[in-house]
Amino acid sequence: TAARSYDIAAVPGDGIGVDVTAEAVKVLDAAASRHGFTLRWTEFDYSCERYARTGAMMPDDGVETLSGFDAILLGAVGFPGVPDHVSLWGLLIPLRRAFSQYVNLRPVRLLPGTTSVLAGRRADELEMVIVRENCEGEYSTLGGRHNQGQPGEFVLQEAVFTRVGVERILRYAFELARTRSRRVCSATKSNGIVHTMPFWDEIFELVSADYPDVEAEQCHIDALVARMVQHPDRLDVIVASNLFGDILSDLAAAITGGLGMAPSGNINPERTHPSMFEAVHGSAPDIAGRGIANPVAQILAGAMMLDQLGEAEAARSVETAVEQVLAEGRVATPDLGGKATTEQLGSAIAAAV
Ligand code: NAI
Ligand code: MG
Repeated sequence: TAARSYDIAAVPGDGIGVDVTAEAVKVLDAAASRHGFTLRWTEFDYSCERYARTGAMMPDDGVETLSGFDAILLGAVGFPGVPDHVSLWGLLIPLRRAFSQYVNLRPVRLLPGTTSVLAGRRADELEMVIVRENCEGEYSTLGGRHNQGQPGEFVLQEAVFTRVGVERILRYAFELARTRSRRVCSATKSNGIVHTMPFWDEIFELVSADYPDVEAEQCHIDALVARMVQHPDRLDVIVASNLFGDILSDLAAAITGGLGMAPSGNINPERTHPSMFEAVHGSAPDIAGRGIANPVAQILAGAMMLDQLGEAEAARSVETAVEQVLAEGRVATPDLGGKATTEQLGSAIAAAV
């Protein structure tokens, strides 16, 4: 049989995205060589730095170029001087939409050697996954600013919820729940948002009827954030719209090991386009260029990528290596209370693989 190999696009992006992606590549290559396959990397400089140079985050044919890859590993985008809506709408959002990566999957758990900011919580009480809708919802360009500078100035921002879009993300969450705790909690706000959220709830009811074996629950977003802090043990699969899922996943990361530990996948479940993997965190300009960012989130995002490529054993090796190195605690970046550099922690994990 021919040796297995995969074509991967690496887009390190800006700030610490560059440092953590280099470590993820190192660890994933170690896993590939141990498990008998090859990752063929091609690096792209799509970033704010490129925007400053050329006026665009990526070239006109960027989407087309990336479409030929088996998967994309993305660092982070965003840097002072380039407005965040430019970096987001010039790269991340177009890729997520062009490749129909409608699931943003954000698993969080408390890793060994780390403690939660929630006093007394054990690892088995802090294990959940946010299933965030990734292609529509509140992140929309529909709307406008009118009467600019006038006393009657107003802005309108429209949210877009399609039947197809809502149904497929809810179904994904129920299918995922069948592989985990068989519990789904849907984030809603149908008491305040009177068109989109009741529609979301209605489709949730319809879909849940197809999954009588899964416990389905709805919770208003404000109550849900409180519950995530007070009773995280009662949550497992949480399904949410684009905006709600974005906020919930930073909170979920914060109550587990922090942003340096939380991976994510932008998944095209039908596999007709490449999926894209990235840490939940951003480019962290406050620590960029100092070589002290925690690479674990990006390394775990790489493990999610291996899973998606069908290399589950290699993915487990990466996760086990991360757990082992964190449990030993000898090599830890400053956010974990240590003095190690990004490179030292990445190398320790690669060696453990
Ligand atoms: P951020 O996630 O970059 O940083 C928040 C805080 O967490 C900072 O204090 C940072 O030092 C710390 N932090 C984040 N990752 C860390 C790591 N791996 N190790 C140690 N500490 C870490 O969020 P912020 O500051 O709101 O955004 C900075 C830039 O990143 C903005 O331009 C924003 O638009 C962009 N961004 C990009 C994302 C992406 O590419 N998907 C996601 C979130 C933000
Ligand atoms: Mg976010």
